Amino acid sequence: MTAQTLTQMAVEVLTTADGRAKTALSRAHAARWRDARAAGTPIPVGEAAPPLHPARPAAPELLDPRDVPRRRPGSPQGRIALLHAVAHIELNAVDLHWDIIARFGHVPMPMGFYDDWVKSADEESKHFNLMCDCLEELGSHYGALPAHAGMWRAAEDTRDDLLGRLAVVPMVLEARGLDVTPGMIEIFQKANAQSAVDALKIIYAEEVHHVAYGSKWFHFLCGRDNTDPVVVFHDLVRTYFHGALKPPFNEEKRAEAGIPPDFYWPLADQLR
Ligand SMILES: [Fe+2]
Ligand SMILES: [Fe+2]
Repeated sequence: MTAQTLTQMAVEVLTTADGRAKTALSRAHAARWRDARAAGTPIPVGEAAPPLHPARPAAPELLDPRDVPRRRPGSPQGRIALLHAVAHIELNAVDLHWDIIARFGHVPMPMGFYDDWVKSADEESKHFNLMCDCLEELGSHYGALPAHAGMWRAAEDTRDDLLGRLAVVPMVLEARGLDVTPGMIEIFQKANAQSAVDALKIIYAEEVHHVAYGSKWFHFLCGRDNTDPVVVFHDLVRTYFHGALKPPFNEEKRAEAGIPPDFYWPLADQLR
């Protein structure tokens, strides 16, 4: 490991293409950051130039979401497709958390900001590996099916706007994960697919924190700017997020993650 700063470590992860290699490096860097923090000798944050797009493996083939074939979740093939889609989301999430660290190194933030996103990146790396293990148990693997091409769009659109990034990535996209994961767990419970149920339960429990970190640092920045977080959130989501938010919302978990209903209901489908 040659990286001397946290933002250099982030760029190393972002420029590693293979999923298992990317997540192994991500976990090693997270441990290095955590140990240095615990020892009272933190690694400097520094500044680095992250790539506009993270390196990705040759497979899966990335398709426009409209061209990704839909499979019935009740079938074994449908369950493989669902796990594959989650694996793809998790790999993207690894890059998103390292990207927020690398891209906004010039914005002065407390150390806790970096602790939170390093921890999130570490957890997403674990989630990706869990999904890969489940796929391999079912005789498939990450890369065996086509995947969604549009995943990095939110990152690109908000590359110059930290508040926009926090609004759209953890507070909209990851909060959406809280809405849909219980239904997924049910699908695998019905199929008696225990390892997928266990993995998705870990993901569900840990994702609440990622949304909460988003809300925490969003409110922190609004406080620093002396602005109204609800108004700013609505403006940013309307600017950077393409489409309305889709109910039903997991209001309980969203509340636990620090996102009250007045943040999302005014942006929901039927009220636009
Ligand atoms: Fe995750
Ligand atoms: Fe997450």
